[in-house]
Amino acid sequence: MRLDKLIASNGAFSRRQAADAIRRGRVAVNGEPAVKPDAAVTPGADRITVDGEPFLYSPNVYYMLNKPAGYVSSTEGRDTVIALLGEDGKRPGLFPCGRLDIDTVGLLLITDDGPLSHLLLSPRRHVEKEYFFTCSPALTDEGIKMIENGVDLGDFTAKPARIAPSRDRLSGTVAVTEGKYHQVKRMLSRAGSEVTTLKRVRFGPLSLDPDLAPGEYRPLTEDEISALRRAADKEGIKP
Ligand code: URA
Repeated sequence: MRLDKLIASNGAFSRRQAADAIRRGRVAVNGEPAVKPDAAVTPGADRITVDGEPFLYSPNVYYMLNKPAGYVSSTEGRDTVIALLGEDGKRPGLFPCGRLDIDTVGLLLITDDGPLSHLLLSPRRHVEKEYFFTCSPALTDEGIKMIENGVDLGDFTAKPARIAPSRDRLSGTVAVTEGKYHQVKRMLSRAGSEVTTLKRVRFGPLSLDPDLAPGEYRPLTEDEISALRRAADKEGIKP
């Protein structure tokens, strides 16, 4: 495999940035500074460092995106969350792990790792998604209890959710383990209030990076990827 392709494989560098880093002497192969972006290397066998740090080869790409309003969580067409990655971030096979409504903002995981995505989204794995909401009118005690106990939405009954309303009950956070269409909006509506804004602030062990402006993304760190794998694994299948 070409060295520049390997360095760009996990999404931390574009192919152009990878070639540039190699030419600037930031990359070493088996302790020797590399100079040629097209040098042949074997992932797993050759020891590669970038700026002296071990480069861990991953065949998959994982990005955290701060989704802005106005973008759809699909892969085809205009104004998709994938289009936000630009040429530097695009890799074949990337898709959003789950969906946020067009007007919902915040943390969206984008990856090409189908099996992990499948586990993270399985309602049986109980991986929590936490949202900050604003709503009107103010939530009532009864409405809050409904959400805590599991709301009947007609076509399905939402599982009990953890809700932490603000003092004035016009905003708060709610954590759900399912990802049904318009779920949070429908839960609040059923509880007597309408969501006016919705932002996902956490997906399992991942919290939205406060340094990401709306529309920005970054590759996940090794620790974050491991935490996601543990969440998919450890949560196990519960009844
Ligand atoms: N619940 C919703 O209603 N919308 C979202 O985008 C996510 C969760």
